[in-house]
Amino acid sequence: MIVHRTVLELRTALEPLRAGSRIGLVPTMGALHPGHEALIARARRECDVVVVSIFVNPAQFGTGEDIDRYPRDEERDSALAAGLGADHLFVPSVEEMYPHGFQTWVDVEAIAESLEGAGRPGHFRGVATVCLKLFNIIRPDVAYFGRKDAQQAALVGRMVRDLDLDLELRVVPTVRDEDGLALSSRNAYLSPEERAAAGAIPRALAAGAEAHERKEDPALAARAVLAEEPLLDPEYVEVASLDGHVYLLAAVRVGRTRLIDNVLLEGDPD
Ligand code: PAJ
Repeated sequence: MIVHRTVLELRTALEPLRAGSRIGLVPTMGALHPGHEALIARARRECDVVVVSIFVNPAQFGTGEDIDRYPRDEERDSALAAGLGADHLFVPSVEEMYPHGFQTWVDVEAIAESLEGAGRPGHFRGVATVCLKLFNIIRPDVAYFGRKDAQQAALVGRMVRDLDLDLELRVVPTVRDEDGLALSSRNAYLSPEERAAAGAIPRALAAGAEAHERKEDPALAARAVLAEEPLLDPEYVEVASLDGHVYLLAAVRVGRTRLIDNVLLEGDPD
């Protein structure tokens, strides 16, 4: 696996590989865990060339959010990505991605206003912009995203359609811990007590899905489970339609940590 730190280096390495090979991109912010690994493994199965990017994108963090304490361990991530068969690792600096004078942004409108977009103003503008930049730098045939961030995947899909980007998106099922908690780089922030309490999040979503089956209110059922856990402070628990699928989505604060998860209520995920 070759590590690239500049756009020019990466483009130069990919150029001779383009003809006849399928390039897969897995964009990440690092602190890789089995959720990311599932994306990389799928890219490895489906593509000839696998590019993984690691960039803690300042543009998608708001003031007072966790960019400064976001876990970073390039050495470990690099070994993991190489072990999964990635061919190229792109680890640009902030200056490489947002050089002095940078002033062009991508705003996906309605889809960015609710849920994560309501609680994190500007977040999706940062996500859409960095994803479009990565797509333009790497020009992948396929890009891999996780269903754990269902709104993000739907937003990127909308941008791909709206801007006629020539790539396919694959949305990979959420990888969970034994108690059902969705894996996230942010789980590393949790104290043992908080980690135990966070197990109520997937239980709440499962209760919501069961309520939906019984034609009852899924959000109400999920909130009732979350309310039993004093360490959890739900920010939103909402039913929403994303990309033609109906989801129950939640953002929950556990101490200083904010976690998100979702469950599909209706629609064929793949
Ligand atoms: P990050 O949080 O590092 O996640 C990178 C990719 O891994 C995203 O597509 C996310 O949905 C997926 N992912 C995270 N946890 C997962 C899990 N438990 N199961 C399956 N997939 C999971 O999402 C971002 O980074 C950034 O916003 C990014 C797209 C890289 C743009 O900066």
